[in-house]
Amino acid sequence: MSELAILGGNPVRRRPFPAWPKYLPSDAQRLQQVLESRHWGGYPLPSRWCGEFADRFAAMHGARYGLCVANGTIALIATLQAAGIRFGDEVIVPAYTWDGTATAVLFAGGVPVFTDIDPDTYCLDLESARKAITPRTRAILPVHLAMRFAEMEGLQALASEHGLAIIEDCAHVHGGQYRGHGAGSIGDLGCFSFQESKLMTAGEGGIVVTSNLQFFEHLQSQVNCGRASTTDQFQQRVLGSNYRMTEFQAAMLIGQLEMLPELSDRRARAAARLSNALATIPGVRPLPPQPGITREAIYCYVFQYRPEGRQVARDLFVAALEAEGIPCDGRFYEPVYRSDLFHATPENCPQLRDYPVDYSNVRCPVSERAAYEESVWLPQFLLLGEDHDVEEIADAVGKVIRNLGDLAKADPALAGVKAMSRAERPRRERARNY
Ligand SMILES: Cc1ncc(COP(=O)(O)O)c(C=O)c1O
Repeated sequence: MSELAILGGNPVRRRPFPAWPKYLPSDAQRLQQVLESRHWGGYPLPSRWCGEFADRFAAMHGARYGLCVANGTIALIATLQAAGIRFGDEVIVPAYTWDGTATAVLFAGGVPVFTDIDPDTYCLDLESARKAITPRTRAILPVHLAMRFAEMEGLQALASEHGLAIIEDCAHVHGGQYRGHGAGSIGDLGCFSFQESKLMTAGEGGIVVTSNLQFFEHLQSQVNCGRASTTDQFQQRVLGSNYRMTEFQAAMLIGQLEMLPELSDRRARAAARLSNALATIPGVRPLPPQPGITREAIYCYVFQYRPEGRQVARDLFVAALEAEGIPCDGRFYEPVYRSDLFHATPENCPQLRDYPVDYSNVRCPVSERAAYEESVWLPQFLLLGEDHDVEEIADAVGKVIRNLGDLAKADPALAGVKAMSRAERPRRERARNY
């Protein structure tokens, strides 16, 4: 019999990894304070806790202003609106990201134009972005993905050459720095999510940071039903909506902010240890270090599955690794244009009637390779334990690689283990007990 757990052997690990999300005893006091204040919502804006949190978060990222919003998707939509995206304007987005990066562009009335990613960072590729520019391009929306940053200098030069805004999708990089600059403060605007899997969370939530007062004023109006901003210097009158965050969320985020530096350091140390260990295992490759990163933010630890011969598909490798007791994922993201959550049709997006795009014709080969053949994603909380947790991850990877022959022979019998489509995933997520 094979020693692989997926084929009936003993798993490398049975114990759970550290629980996520984390919270502090002081969170309960802050929540109690909000409760007793009888002021729970985000109006008038900024409300007490939202205001304090936004100022501290923006300062930590080197931005002048911060504005709390309901979630990360709303942050992107409001930001695109504040950056002046109009009906039919094109916005360059990487194909390999969460669907919300692209659907936000559609909700703002724009047209997402998918571009490929760099094979070593999995973030927006500069040359691919350059080729995608047309007279209708208005903005570039790089995503700092998983544990790496988009190479911003080249994108900034490209944006200023063509008069484009840069909106950073920072949903994965709370507290991260690139060449000494905080995430979100490198481009014109930066958007963060506080959804439950993120490095800081209030269950749901989001924030926009910027150092541009005009954008900030527009944003305040946008997220607060069109009301004038607190300073109202630019007197922008916009069709706004209620995108505000509650005081309960902001009170939770104060504690999350306090925990972040220590947790980030812990993850960075564990990631370095894991990369060293994986570098000794043939058939897998840690992402190469990125010299531009001056403070790491690791939302997921990603490595590449590159065995010789490829008789065993990445999805089966991931299933075998998971059976060894290591939570992991292969299809964490698909190229958005192939995702079954991306229902972008002229019927539900009027701009695609006037400016048709056939998304079924888009091909981004590096994104497709990452999504379907190569990437292995480990959630960040795997890096929050002890050294022996990291050693067990590497042991499990090594064990599956050593026994790929068994998997190859058994492959037809494991057909049921193949990856699920994204629409089916909630069932699988609920079935997991980590
Ligand atoms: C890269 C990326 N962008 C945007 C979002 C949207 O954030 P939210 O889920 O808070 O709306 C997420 C999170 O899910 C994300 O991972």
